[in-house]
Amino acid sequence: MRIVSGIQPTGSLHLGNYLGAIRQWVRMQDALQPGQQALFFIADLHAITVFQEPASLRQATREIAAAMMAAGIDPARAILFNQSQVPEHAELAWVLECIARIGWLNRMTQFKEKSGKDREGASVGLFAYPVLQAADVLLYKATHVPVGDDQKQHLELARDIATKFNTDYGVELFPLPEPLIAAAAPRVRSLRDGAAKMSKSDPSDMSRINLTDTADDIRQKIRKARTDPEPIPQDVKGLEGRPEARNLVEIYATLQDRPVASVLQDYAGQGFGQFKPALAEVIVAALEPINARFRDLLAHPQAIDAALANGAAQARALARETLAEVHAAVGFLK
Ligand code: TYM
Repeated sequence: MRIVSGIQPTGSLHLGNYLGAIRQWVRMQDALQPGQQALFFIADLHAITVFQEPASLRQATREIAAAMMAAGIDPARAILFNQSQVPEHAELAWVLECIARIGWLNRMTQFKEKSGKDREGASVGLFAYPVLQAADVLLYKATHVPVGDDQKQHLELARDIATKFNTDYGVELFPLPEPLIAAAAPRVRSLRDGAAKMSKSDPSDMSRINLTDTADDIRQKIRKARTDPEPIPQDVKGLEGRPEARNLVEIYATLQDRPVASVLQDYAGQGFGQFKPALAEVIVAALEPINARFRDLLAHPQAIDAALANGAAQARALARETLAEVHAAVGFLK
């Protein structure tokens, strides 16, 4: 078992990243058996598919590393690094770009969303982004990739690329990576719009809970979160067609590791005026310790850089082995 996953440094970490991905990463890391490995990286190569101010990118990379460690990723047990320090990611991506078909990439919904109406004006990197993502996991022969639901399509593409590479070259080089989608929080929604996912790129900070928000920020954001005038229903069926209400109840249930139905039993018949303060306190209780550790870690940026450099060296050792096999399979001279 080899677990691999990544996150983009394009803003601060939010509750969607935490519940959809990082909390699973920490749990999987904590459950690792001898011989199993986990690699978690900050996808800075992916971030520049859309222009990033260099100083902001550097800062965001350190902040995400600190937030990951604060949330429980332990560089002594998992390999934690930033992608650009392992040039093999970009090198394998090139080979895989020669495997992936333009038609496959044309179907990627994230590219359509991110490029919007100006498809011709998007970077080539944004179009090729899912191939780099395939390289990220295939480079380490990942068997399991814990991600939120929004990354499922990219992971399916990675499997298609792996299959075509193995078939074209007549090898069994890449195992097919299995996406692991958090059952409890597959997609945390925006606090302002139940139709949109909670996202780093939403211009409204009120739409998300950042892992670095203060307790007062959290209380205010939950107080102002959009809901409907109906009370909390008796059962899960009663949440149908009520995406904002469902989102808040799901966040509560997931943070407490309880089924949604059991939370509904506690609050059935009450209005959101009563539920929201309780939810805010559940979030504050979960994030406050992370927040405190985050601030301590961020006070020592050299230590963060050193941890990332150390992780990159470990990742490179694994990456070089796969890349040597790829070179041999493709027919590159040694
Ligand atoms: P990114 O940076 O957008 O998000 C990081 C992780 O958080 C999950 N996530 C969510 N889960 C539930 N609800 C939400 N609202 C929510 N928002 C984000 C994402 O699914 C993801 O697991 N392309 C990836 C980064 C990446 C990657 C990889 C992931 C690059 N290479 C290789 C896995 C394997 C991305 O942009 O994630």
